[in-house]
Amino acid sequence: MTQHVLAIDQGTTSTRAIVFDAAGAIVSTAQREHEQILPRAGWVEHDPVEIWTGTEWVIAASLARAGVPASDIAAVGVTNQRETAIVWDRRTGRPINNALVWQDTRTQSRIDELARDGGPQRFAEITGLPLATYFSASKIAWILDHVSGAREAAAAGELLFGTPDTWIVWNLTGGARGGIHVTDVTNASRTLLMDLRTLDWSDELLEVWGIPRAMMPEIRSSSEVVGTAHLPDSLHGVPIAGILGDQQAATFGQAAFDAGESKNTYGTGNFLLVGTGTEIVRSESGLIATVAYRCGDEPARYALEGSIAVTGSLVQWLRDNLGIINRSEEVETLAATVADNGGAYFVPAFSGLFAPYWRPDARGALVGMTRYVNKAHIARAALESTAFQTRDVIEAVVADTGRPLDELRVDGGMTRDDLLMQFQADILGIPVVRPKVVETTALGAAYAAGLATGVWRDRDELRSHWREDTRFEPRMPADERERRYRLWKKAVSKSLDWVD
Ligand code: G3P
Repeated sequence: MTQHVLAIDQGTTSTRAIVFDAAGAIVSTAQREHEQILPRAGWVEHDPVEIWTGTEWVIAASLARAGVPASDIAAVGVTNQRETAIVWDRRTGRPINNALVWQDTRTQSRIDELARDGGPQRFAEITGLPLATYFSASKIAWILDHVSGAREAAAAGELLFGTPDTWIVWNLTGGARGGIHVTDVTNASRTLLMDLRTLDWSDELLEVWGIPRAMMPEIRSSSEVVGTAHLPDSLHGVPIAGILGDQQAATFGQAAFDAGESKNTYGTGNFLLVGTGTEIVRSESGLIATVAYRCGDEPARYALEGSIAVTGSLVQWLRDNLGIINRSEEVETLAATVADNGGAYFVPAFSGLFAPYWRPDARGALVGMTRYVNKAHIARAALESTAFQTRDVIEAVVADTGRPLDELRVDGGMTRDDLLMQFQADILGIPVVRPKVVETTALGAAYAAGLATGVWRDRDELRSHWREDTRFEPRMPADERERRYRLWKKAVSKSLDWVD
């Protein structure tokens, strides 16, 4: 029997659908970008309708390219940019506002107000998260406060909230005509509204933000059948059997299932997750505690996460705002024309700094400039900032777990860049390991869906699919590594000092 699994990956810049075969190999891919709506400094929005129509398109295109009929698809897995908040009318299916994207910082004043009483860690015991604009809660409250009549409609049970997984599954299962309103534990753990211990919405937090429980989706595990797809022309009658936030999906796709196993994904931002098993480990060093995955009725597995807001999106910024490259891939070629950064350090604190600093007031800093510095040095400094920020979060992981990392498993589009991967190994002083499949986000969602529907037997079988592609050994002398890292920390201190 031919069995395939379809993964939908709704990311920050695009939506993709990938058909995998039973060996976990990619059969076909379709991708569609969506607009980044930037109405003011600090505001980042997406149009949920554009995202949904794009999703319908990539599903149909990926199936057509694979030459596989829907009847050959055993299951659908959904993975998504996390935290991004969408609120819509349950009867019409129309969003009442654009989605407020995870990078959006417009709710900072509300966050500051709440932090005045109890500090930024005020809800960390319940949620594992610091108070920050990054998570969904303040975004939902903002929509309810700023769209006329929204609070009354929410109280009357007319509005639904969802992160992009919820929005897609609701539309995929019939939308206003009976769509299923669900999310999974990993996505729920990013809202600042879920109790990490009970895996249920916290009444205390719903009350703090004035969010009615009736708006909230039902929280399901990451690997179980939640409903059936109803897209008449492309995907009809196929079970939706896996949902994971994209960083957790990448961890699952890397087969990093157990405590101590980790991965670092290089996307719009970078997200490093280290499994802590069934234990919730509270960070003392600026990491967050999050759900890694939950399969069916098994106990949830947790992770520590180091979230970095800006890495790949800095390359886009070099392309779109500075125009020093035409295509993102050119950054490596440009950076390779110089031997080093020429003394320039670039701290891309465009949304403040996330882990391990959690400083919303930080601003981007390009320091160490002399007349000698040219655009190639700036490209290099931009790439290096990804590696330095990764070292910052790894220092925090080592401080929290008391265990150095033996190696770093990486994935995501930017990991195709050998120059960056070598520099990453150099600046960490440990090997960086790139697997054969770097699209582990979609793969993880496919794995979760395929596990729940019998395509794969168990996690050991998935582990056996993992293949190493390249291992980058550190080559930089230790004193040089530490000198550069010291300069990076100095640059970060400038970024933190910048007060409007
Ligand atoms: O937490 C935000 C993260 O889920 C976004 O990931 O890959 O869409 O940039 P990505």
